[in-house]
Amino acid sequence: MQNLIKILFFGLLLSACNPLPNPGKDLYVEKCQNCHGVDGEGLKGLYPNLVNADYFQKNREKLACIIKYGVNEEMEVNGTKYQGEMPANAMLTEIEITNLLNFINQEFKNGQEPFSMQEISKNLVNCK
Ligand code: HEC
Repeated sequence: MQNLIKILFFGLLLSACNPLPNPGKDLYVEKCQNCHGVDGEGLKGLYPNLVNADYFQKNREKLACIIKYGVNEEMEVNGTKYQGEMPANAMLTEIEITNLLNFINQEFKNGQEPFSMQEISKNLVNCK
């Protein structure tokens, strides 16, 4: 009985150290973090911030297009102007873009409704 309790306790410890897989986070680290920063903080004047970002919050229907096809226009994010170029990620699937946006929304405190794959598919049809 003592041993069983020890084993159960150890298992609990192990699972606490091994967070559930988070595909949105993995994609962010691989494809976005270089520019937008470990904590989404960006680099002022060069790479816009993604934390509590008014651009992210006000342009919901454009985000999937920006991620998939890149963007190169003047934009203002939380009071700072950007005129940079973000490269395309043409290989990303709709489900990957959905996971990425949900990660950014939650982790970087943007406070929007969760994104669904149906919504992302619909938005991608309208990219310019
Ligand atoms: C090479 C650097 C670079 C990489 C890599 C990059 N971005 Fe960007 N991102 C930018 C720049 C520069 C802008 C501003 C573009 C402009 O002014 O037209 C931007 C703008 C944005 C915006 C809109 C502005 C805002 O802060 O809300 C979002 C959302 C965004 N990026 C998300 C992502 C995501 C998600 C990825 C990974 C799939 C990514 N970016 C990868 C450089 C990058």
